[in-house]
Amino acid sequence: MNMLRWPYPHLIAHRGGGRFAPENTAAALLAGSVFGYRMAEFDVKLSSDNIAFLLHDDTLDRTTNSCGPAADWRWAELATLDAGSGFDPRFADEPLPTLADAARICLEHGIHANVEIKPCPGREVQTGKLVAQECLRRWGRATIPPLLSSFSADALSAAREAAPPLNYAWLIEDTLPSDWLTTAQQLGVIALDIDHTLVDADLVTAIHDAGLALMCWTVDDPARAASLFRLGVDAICTDALDALQP
Ligand code: G3P
Ligand code: MG
Repeated sequence: MNMLRWPYPHLIAHRGGGRFAPENTAAALLAGSVFGYRMAEFDVKLSSDNIAFLLHDDTLDRTTNSCGPAADWRWAELATLDAGSGFDPRFADEPLPTLADAARICLEHGIHANVEIKPCPGREVQTGKLVAQECLRRWGRATIPPLLSSFSADALSAAREAAPPLNYAWLIEDTLPSDWLTTAQQLGVIALDIDHTLVDADLVTAIHDAGLALMCWTVDDPARAASLFRLGVDAICTDALDALQP
């Protein structure tokens, strides 16, 4: 039995709404909101001078007008980049947002935040700690705190130590480790957030029996989403904001 009453919406806009506006930008968060999404996932890492900002990749190449490892750049330099033109000229000069910018947009628009801690390689502990502290500052005593997730157990562990009142989810890809329950308990997460192709009825039961919630990523097929919800999955992260109606 799932002892946890899931406190968040059941549908989450992936990278803010990255199919309809440049991913991980303010425009993407607002696009998700226009589709009626009340929760957004976005990826956060640190600049070289420890400002938390939104970017998925380790490098700037795919989503901005610059290139090279994001970890080498100071925030003052990152703030001048164009993260929109590559998606569509309509979004020219859309900037990379800070985590503080994203928090302000979420709070202003009533969007729950799924903050994925996405550390640059080697910066797992520092990123977990600083992102969690920033979330605690920005969301303060919000009734429902942001949900922080990460593939990195080191980042999650550091985050939870720095900000125990926030909620945490452990992201899983490829395979679910056999000792997942022990690790989840050690990390103090409320949910596992699993590649949906790994999910079946037995896994949903096992995770709920452990008192944990189950989130899935990234599900764009409405039939698959319906099937996962029938199994009892608590939340789905999707790019298909037009196909999966909140
Ligand atoms: O949080 C779910 C999903 O965002 C994880 O994959 O690579 O899109 O960050 P990725
Ligand atoms: Mg992500």
